[in-house]
Amino acid sequence: MTDTLESLLVEAQAGLEAAKSSEVLRAWELQYLGKKGRVIEAVRSVGAMPKEERAAYGKRANEIKVALETAYAEREEAIKAAELAQNLEAGEIDVTLPGRPVNRGGLHPSTHTLRDFYRIWATLGFQVYHSREVEDDDTNFTLLNFPPHHPAREMQDTIFTTRPNVILRTHTSPGQIRGMRELGENGTKPIRIILPGMCYRYEQITARSEVQFNQVEGLCIGRNIHMTDLKGTIAEFAKAMFGPQAKVRFRASYFPFTEPSMEVDVECFLCGGQGCRVCKYAGWLEIAGSGMVHPVVLQNGGYDPKEWSGFAFGMGPERITMLKHGINDIRYFWANDLRFLEQF
Ligand code: PHE
Repeated sequence: MTDTLESLLVEAQAGLEAAKSSEVLRAWELQYLGKKGRVIEAVRSVGAMPKEERAAYGKRANEIKVALETAYAEREEAIKAAELAQNLEAGEIDVTLPGRPVNRGGLHPSTHTLRDFYRIWATLGFQVYHSREVEDDDTNFTLLNFPPHHPAREMQDTIFTTRPNVILRTHTSPGQIRGMRELGENGTKPIRIILPGMCYRYEQITARSEVQFNQVEGLCIGRNIHMTDLKGTIAEFAKAMFGPQAKVRFRASYFPFTEPSMEVDVECFLCGGQGCRVCKYAGWLEIAGSGMVHPVVLQNGGYDPKEWSGFAFGMGPERITMLKHGINDIRYFWANDLRFLEQF
């Protein structure tokens, strides 16, 4: 009976030697060493042997199994190495090809506009000052000279928290108070800052209004600051932002924290003032609220209004981005739709 085992070994060894690819090798394994492979069957058949042959046969069958397993593992390694070498030679990987570009993402359109703001205001001597988004009612309203029952304090505008007096700021103007108190050294130092950041309002979301939006506040405090400084500074900004031909105009308005107060328009840069859909045929686009800092606000910031004066303005970067790119719906800004964001 051991003769059959010996011829099985010779046959299997020849088959292994002839195997030159992983596929053939796998077929060989199945044929000899698989669950129903011939070597395994041979080992299993010991039970059916006549008693006196069993020990010798079983021993030899096991030896052959172990020898073939070892030979198989060696062969497998050799074939793998040969195949790898062959693939490399065949140039499946061309290391000289330029790499595929990695998508690095991009900046949000509001970030582009904010960076334009920082750059332009820096050339005019304004530093960036970050105030807080979570504010207290006093700083957001009372210290900014809002009369006690001013409609802007009511529920439909302000997002309150469950803590009394803690709200989300509805505009960046409370940063005026914090900036003056922190940088003014008890009303003894001039200030030139812009205050960018997110503001929140409890409002119906529409194409024109969102519950969150950026503002960029500007504040300039000094001993001889006049309205001409405000007008000249804003006019310079408009030229840098919209082009050297940009014209601005100021319209009387009202804010509790500035007196006098003005709204700033820039001549429509899309139609050159001729009138178009974006400017609603007015020829002008509103870009900011502004005014001379109210004496009460100066005082609340630690300055003596008899000696110090200042101007302030507030701009909406999303609004300006919309005007610049003809975006007709503010909801695109926070919808996280890549089809929108990837255009910038
Ligand atoms: N805070 C005002 C607003 O939200 C804008 C503004 C800022 C007006 C500074 C005047 C001065 O509408």
